Amino acid sequence: MEELEKLKLELKSLNSEYAKIKEVPAEKRGEFGRELNAKKNAILERIKKAEEALLDADVVPLDITAPCSSNEPLPEVYSVFEGSEHPLMTELDRVTEIYQLMGFDVVESRQLDDEFHMFDSLNFAKEHPARDGYDTFRTEEGLIPPAHTSTMQHRVLKAYKHNLDEGKDIAVVVPGRVYRNEDVDATHEHTFYQCEGVFVSKDCTLGNMLGILREFFEKYYEQKLNIRTQPGYFPFTEPSLEFMIEKPKSLGGKKGDFLEMLGCGMIHPNVLKMAGIDPTKYHGFAWGGGIDRLVMLRYGLKDVRHFESGNLNFLKEF
Ligand code: DAH
Repeated sequence: MEELEKLKLELKSLNSEYAKIKEVPAEKRGEFGRELNAKKNAILERIKKAEEALLDADVVPLDITAPCSSNEPLPEVYSVFEGSEHPLMTELDRVTEIYQLMGFDVVESRQLDDEFHMFDSLNFAKEHPARDGYDTFRTEEGLIPPAHTSTMQHRVLKAYKHNLDEGKDIAVVVPGRVYRNEDVDATHEHTFYQCEGVFVSKDCTLGNMLGILREFFEKYYEQKLNIRTQPGYFPFTEPSLEFMIEKPKSLGGKKGDFLEMLGCGMIHPNVLKMAGIDPTKYHGFAWGGGIDRLVMLRYGLKDVRHFESGNLNFLKEF
């Protein structure tokens, strides 16, 4: 590299030599010019060689017979930007870990579902306008990319019903990717993540649910929080609530700045019944809320669209 720089400087210095050509007596100008040109060509030739040598040095020959050594650091010449986990995945791990420490199982949601799990199994009456509230996409075959992780409730209840028969509770969280056909702006994305919680036992109450949710949010934001609920409506819970936390001062919040974090409530008896669980013997509560919003608050992010943008400058900050 140094050699190349030196040669380039040498080449540049020829310019002042060329400028002198005017002062050379006419009869000697031809020879002066030829000599200068020869010098220039010699330098150009050396530059070419130096550049080729540099290129050769940079190319690491590919040996397809070599044993795989993906752990070996790459030569610096590749200047590779090492990838990292997407921030939503890192945070989703934190979320499920907090619930796991509280004794919850984790079941992943799916990315294609059907009318039954999206609506019928969740006690949405046929033709009920609440079905329109979810801005659902539909494939040509009539399948549904789920608009919420609640689509998994029926499956979870059925799969874990044996816990109840064995005298244990059902305690499961379901993280998943969800889709809504809505206009995208700084606070709305067509694709985002949710985490659902399902709990069933003989004698659980809304009070237990609020305790679990408070514990979760205080662990996630690593501080004590003020919480609040207000009545909500979901066909699959009765009563239904919206759960809010007061935006912490450390995250730019002011007193009374309550943010809605999720929907929740006692699981509707019809939902339990459809999964073969006797609602006169067992009670349950469930909740579901967005992960993107949770993460945006933690990191002070103002635009949800960053997450799906694939923008490396954004991703590199995590
Ligand atoms: N699925 C609802 C939504 O996306 C949120 C929700 C509300 C989930 C109440 C629940 C629940 O499990 O019990 O708007």
